[in-house]
Amino acid sequence: MTAVKKNEIVGSLYDFEEIKLSDKMFTRFAERMYSLAGVDLPLTPKNHALIRNRIVKLLRRHSLKSYEEYWTMLEKGGSELTSEFISALTTNMTSFYREANHFDFLKSVLPDLAKKFGTDLRLWCAAASTGQEPYTIAMTACEAAADMSPATKPRLLATDIDLQVLKKASTGTYEEREMQGLPPAQRTRYFEKIKANGDEYWRAKDQIHDMIRFAPFNLMNPKYEFQHKFHVIFCRNVLIYFDEPTTKKVIDNLVACLAPGGYLILGHSESGNVKHPGLKPMSRAVYQKI
Ligand SMILES: C[S@@+](CC[C@H](N)C(=O)[O-])C[C@H]1O[C@@H](n2cnc3c(N)ncnc32)[C@H](O)[C@@H]1O
Repeated sequence: MTAVKKNEIVGSLYDFEEIKLSDKMFTRFAERMYSLAGVDLPLTPKNHALIRNRIVKLLRRHSLKSYEEYWTMLEKGGSELTSEFISALTTNMTSFYREANHFDFLKSVLPDLAKKFGTDLRLWCAAASTGQEPYTIAMTACEAAADMSPATKPRLLATDIDLQVLKKASTGTYEEREMQGLPPAQRTRYFEKIKANGDEYWRAKDQIHDMIRFAPFNLMNPKYEFQHKFHVIFCRNVLIYFDEPTTKKVIDNLVACLAPGGYLILGHSESGNVKHPGLKPMSRAVYQKI
């Protein structure tokens, strides 16, 4: 098997570095990304370079000569092109045990949640990227299992808007460089080495892999319609890409699908954005629904 690589590029016909991205085309791409994913990209030199560098890869992939040609194709194209566009413009940086205090917190509350909710205990990782975060949650649940009833395995939903990263996450297969942050003991307990096409990868063992259901989900959905409430929601390092009104709507929606007493966990740099009357701060970027 081959690991899925994001934005893999084939062939190069033109000198793409020479193709200029006008402010007008930048604005079109930025506005489209905002309406599709809520990602706010004001016209700054950094965002200009970001859009240019990411979209130039799509020009190469589709053998197009200009951003205008790509825009026309995107306008006419269907859901696959839209999904590819979203994938190109999202930032998917992640790692195992990122902002590690959140997993210490999770480990400390899981036994109690398990006692209360048993097999109905539900967790959601709402911007799961390539999967390191939900697998860390699953490993934490296994570590907490000593303090939990053996019959209790939490259900973990992992979602993202970007179908490419979600596909990779669902394989649970990582290159060595993607294993950073994972301590040696966890690495061998929960992952196994596999060989594919002469290369070595680490693959999540069934014990953690089977705990997670992967599905696409756009946090811009006007209402989050789930059959059951969640007891813990991780929504980390994605609000930073949204503007204030969008962040407020997302927080309102997350709180609405959290069970009373449940926990909302945001990224460390995102806690300044939370002013919700239904949330009580617990520890750094961790909130409990009142
Ligand atoms: C920087 S990564 C953070 C990954 C992980 N939560 C962490 O903290 O390591 C941000 C993720 O948010 C996803 N994302 C961006 N906009 C989104 C949206 N509107 N709905 C759902 N996911 C979104 C991106 O695709 C990306 O995988």
